[in-house]
Amino acid sequence: MTSLLIGANGGLAQAIYQKLNLLSECTQVDLVSRSFCTPFRRQDRVFTLDSCDADAVESFCFAREQEALKYQQVFCCIGMLHQPGRFPEKQLQQVRPESLSEYFQINTLAPANWLARLTRLCSSKGPLTIVFFSARVGSIEDNQLGGWYGYRISKAALNMLVKSAAPELIRFNPQARILCYHPGTVDTSLSAPFQSRMGTKPLLTPSQSVDGLFRYLTMPHEQTGAKFIDWQGKSIPW
Ligand SMILES: NC(=O)c1ccc[n+]([C@@H]2O[C@H](COP(=O)([O-])OP(=O)(O)OC[C@H]3O[C@@H](n4cnc5c(N)ncnc54)[C@H](OP(=O)(O)O)[C@@H]3O)[C@@H](O)[C@H]2O)c1
Repeated sequence: MTSLLIGANGGLAQAIYQKLNLLSECTQVDLVSRSFCTPFRRQDRVFTLDSCDADAVESFCFAREQEALKYQQVFCCIGMLHQPGRFPEKQLQQVRPESLSEYFQINTLAPANWLARLTRLCSSKGPLTIVFFSARVGSIEDNQLGGWYGYRISKAALNMLVKSAAPELIRFNPQARILCYHPGTVDTSLSAPFQSRMGTKPLLTPSQSVDGLFRYLTMPHEQTGAKFIDWQGKSIPW
């Protein structure tokens, strides 16, 4: 089984990579990141590119097509909640087109660059698993607190993108399963500034969250299109 891990230097992505290394059926992992990361095994490969750059994603896909390589698992871990000069908006007055567009660029359009090309990269026969890291705050129905406009909107758009693509992906491969995954609140650089305000919510380690994902992935395979699930395997309303 060959796997593609996108956003490979993130805290959760590194935990996925460690997990994949423990699985005997996982024969090769291709890692994509903006910066170099060290592969654990000789057969694993690292590709340095920015997923926001559609031309770079296209070149990657073209090269894999030349190799006739097909993935059976794809994990897209890309996501931004804060970065230098950018913090999630608490109030409507803080909403600006430039911040919304930055959240969209990273949280929606970069995954879309991959999703649009996945049928060229993936097997059309046999089990196929595609996981996009989303967030519970991207649920429209579950939104009680408001705020975090750019992050919420861009993750809700990612969810809609995945849900809209699911019928096409399932026509391409009837054994495809497509997930939007909420990892819980996990101890990574993404959550670091917010961990002190979590109240009674558990703070998970990356490996706890990833164990939850793989527990779900090893359950009997249902052919029901896209799912939005959390680290406990529970469905989240879209
Ligand atoms: N940690 C949490 O509590 C939590 C909660 C809910 C949802 N999530 C979601 O889980 C996913 C993984 O997050 P994490 O906790 O592992 O955070 P992290 O350690 O900060 O990793 C961030 C990820 O996003 C990519 N990324 C960041 N900025 C980017 C940019 N400008 N352009 C392209 N890629 C960029 C990174 O890829 P590179 O390899 O290129 O650096 C990396 O995969 C995200 O989608 C996040 O929204 C996390």
